[in-house]
Amino acid sequence: MKAVTWQGKRKVSVDEVPDPRIEQPTDAVVRITSTGVCGSDLHLYEVLGPFMDRGDVLGHEPMGIVEEVGSAVSGLSVGDRVVIPFQIACGTCWMCTRGLPTQCEVTQTRDQGTGAPIFGYSKLYGQVPGGQAELLRVPQAQFTHVKVPHGPADERFVYLSDVLPTAWQAVAYADVPDGGTLVVLGLGPIGDMACRIGQHRGYRVIGVDLVPERLQRGRDRGYEVVDLAAAGNDLGEVVRGMTDGRGADSVVDAVGMEAHGSPVTTVVQQAAGLLPDVLAKPLFKSAGVDRLGAIYSAIDLVRRGGTISLSGVYGGAADPMPLLTMFDKQITLRMGQANVKRWVPEILPLLTDGDPLGVDTFHTHAAPLAEAPQMYERFQKKQDGCVKVLLKP
Ligand SMILES: NC(=O)c1ccc[n+]([C@@H]2O[C@H](COP(=O)([O-])OP(=O)(O)OC[C@H]3O[C@@H](n4cnc5c(N)ncnc54)[C@H](O)[C@@H]3O)[C@@H](O)[C@H]2O)c1
Ligand SMILES: [Zn+2]
Ligand SMILES: [Zn+2]
Repeated sequence: MKAVTWQGKRKVSVDEVPDPRIEQPTDAVVRITSTGVCGSDLHLYEVLGPFMDRGDVLGHEPMGIVEEVGSAVSGLSVGDRVVIPFQIACGTCWMCTRGLPTQCEVTQTRDQGTGAPIFGYSKLYGQVPGGQAELLRVPQAQFTHVKVPHGPADERFVYLSDVLPTAWQAVAYADVPDGGTLVVLGLGPIGDMACRIGQHRGYRVIGVDLVPERLQRGRDRGYEVVDLAAAGNDLGEVVRGMTDGRGADSVVDAVGMEAHGSPVTTVVQQAAGLLPDVLAKPLFKSAGVDRLGAIYSAIDLVRRGGTISLSGVYGGAADPMPLLTMFDKQITLRMGQANVKRWVPEILPLLTDGDPLGVDTFHTHAAPLAEAPQMYERFQKKQDGCVKVLLKP
């Protein structure tokens, strides 16, 4: 089959690889019809290279048609239309039954000390072949799927794999009071969707980014935006000026570890990128290599007693954090990979009755798998108005 593979820093290619097969009785094989490219893939493309091997199959936002089911998979049949959550979880362990499939005790990536494995997401998360491919092997298939009806186009459901539950959890964890103000940092797919969900819930939403097309997308959806390129170091003042001098009740960081405006750590990240993997890996896990521009902004512009919700992915372990300020401002901080299936029942009604979140027109680019290399580049460089790419194997 054809698949998108990681080849090195800022290099992916489309290669012929062996077809996946049923390896465990709990597996299924799905023929992929649509599959997203995510901001998380850009971290693999750029700074997480030390955890990748050449040839690793990328992608964790797939949907398609079940082609084969293992003998132990109940509740799933050949021909079913499914979206595959980005994390692999059993559905019945202590964590899964408490709505935390990211922490599944059956599948946890114990040798790396991380939670549930993620499709196409490096050794840190189990090095499982991903879903930017014609076929995908789905482990723990009895739980690792969301069945969706035949009929509507893939665009209606494909974001259930990641964008929708991630943005949903980001807003839920932000704990916005009724009628409160939610600031969302970053208007990529995750941030934009978090803004739409905030609007849908009746909050005042302010989105922050520095890419003109992404700011315009926000204005077009009817939420307020602040241009970081213009606000610069005064972002906190700008937001306080919009919120009675107090700051936002809640802030979602939908930027993560490659934020613009973090000059010192950009240099450190680049240096780590030049080291041999054996040195770069421990440095990445234990030292301060994140570019913290966004999280620092969040701490500044949240009001005293407010809540910060991190959905942007961070990687380092010992970054300097302004703990005095965080403690003094009495901030609540929540974070993590999205517990996909925890939120699906709440989201599904918004996909069947009309389209209040605008998912049908959410992607800006659709392309055959063969064009993945150009699409990765366009998405990373934010060229041609690129916000969300769907590949069509
Ligand atoms: N928690 C999860 O389960 C989960 C799931 C998916 C994605 N993510 C993470 O969410 C983040 C966003 O993903 P995406 O797909 O939207 O990617 P993206 O890279 O398209 O979006 C990031 C946006 O942040 C903007 N930005 C950069 N620096 C900024 C700053 N200092 N202040 C404000 N905005 C800034 C960029 O211009 C860009 O528009 C990534 O870190 C990704 O890894 C997390
Ligand atoms: Zn994703
Ligand atoms: Zn489990």
